[in-house]
Amino acid sequence: MDLDAGAVTPHSPMLQIIAVAQKNPTRKRVCYAMRRGLQQINTAREDRMLDRALRRVDEFCTAYDMRVPILMAPMAGACPPALAAAVAEAGGMGGCGALMMDPDEIAQWAAEFRAASKGPFQMNLWVPDPAPPRDADHERAVTEFLAAWGPAPARLSADLPVPFADQCEALIEARPAVMSSIMGLFPPHVVDRMKAGGISWFATATTVAEALQAEAAGADAIIAQGSEAGGHRGAFNADKANAQMCGSMALVPAIHDAVGVPVIAAGGMADARGVVAALALGASAVLVGTAFLRAPEAAIAPAWADAIGRAQPDDTTTTRAFSGRLGRSLRTDYIAATECEGAPAPLPYPLQRSATGPMRALGAKENNLACMQAWAGQSARLARNEPAGEIVRSIWTEARATLIQ
Ligand SMILES: Cc1cc2nc3c(=O)[nH]c(=O)nc-3n(C[C@H](O)[C@H](O)[C@H](O)COP(=O)(O)O)c2cc1C
Repeated sequence: MDLDAGAVTPHSPMLQIIAVAQKNPTRKRVCYAMRRGLQQINTAREDRMLDRALRRVDEFCTAYDMRVPILMAPMAGACPPALAAAVAEAGGMGGCGALMMDPDEIAQWAAEFRAASKGPFQMNLWVPDPAPPRDADHERAVTEFLAAWGPAPARLSADLPVPFADQCEALIEARPAVMSSIMGLFPPHVVDRMKAGGISWFATATTVAEALQAEAAGADAIIAQGSEAGGHRGAFNADKANAQMCGSMALVPAIHDAVGVPVIAAGGMADARGVVAALALGASAVLVGTAFLRAPEAAIAPAWADAIGRAQPDDTTTTRAFSGRLGRSLRTDYIAATECEGAPAPLPYPLQRSATGPMRALGAKENNLACMQAWAGQSARLARNEPAGEIVRSIWTEARATLIQ
């Protein structure tokens, strides 16, 4: 029997046969049995898929000391220890985006987390891009454009906020359960040191090719970052970020089918529906960012939090206008201005980040959404203004109930 032809869909040939046969009363009992049989076949097929999803979840949670397959996304600038600890206390994994942190701040973050939770946490770093080319005319044009939006930067800097090697050392010393990478791969000597210290490596990938590179380099799990995700795109090559915009629906199963390590789905998962879908697509867990930004523990600027709660998917857009690296943000007035004819193209990362620093700082200080760095994913409207632990618990309670039906 062709099971697909028999699937219970409104237009399936099998249903049409049943509908015709039902018009004959003597055949009603047979028709009922046929319909029940088809439903049982379909249910059995779903059970097998969802059973596999639950097995993946169990294995992953056991390996990482979690009760719930939800990881808080590492969100540089929006990941206070209190938020991460609340997620971990609810059974998930806390997250720290350490991009802008120096070694003392990294140690302090880990200490504050541990004072609030004994649960697991991950610490995340950006793998640096090659130094950008400098173009004085272009830099002047961007600086003049930005004068309408905030104070001028003292000088544009292509330096990293903190040396990457120092940050790696500080992370290894902080001994999180997981170190995660984005924008590239940790160098082999860092991988050796973290593994020797019992730290796992989760590598962010935006394509199958990146995921395969990460697996070959020793990653213990792949974070499959779909294009719905809020914040920066993790493309290894900044110039390819725009062309590599794969949504989670296609990316998660593609990476799951290609690698032998667990896949963590990131991008657009903000309620039980998204979590169930990601697990059915092959993920072992989900990484959630935007959905935690309205939690009181996140303590982001009120104008940003309010706008997230109102944003439809098309109220977000991808832009290089904040940092020079592509990222998904709310469509603010500043971003709209950068898209107008005559506006200078953004500088490469990290020069654009340096150029917009004073504007972004002022926007945050004055709670002015127009020029704030307002990262948000396409499922922003589902983010709830509730304690983070409650968000974790309610999402997983509903998702699990659906999975075990
Ligand atoms: C405010 C914000 C900051 C982020 N910062 C980082 C970061 O520092 N490192 C990183 O790997 N990902 C970062 N991301 C991306 C997240 O790790 C994750 O891919 C994304 O939030 C998942 O999509 P979602 O926002 O739809 O849940 C950030 C996302 C947001 C919203």
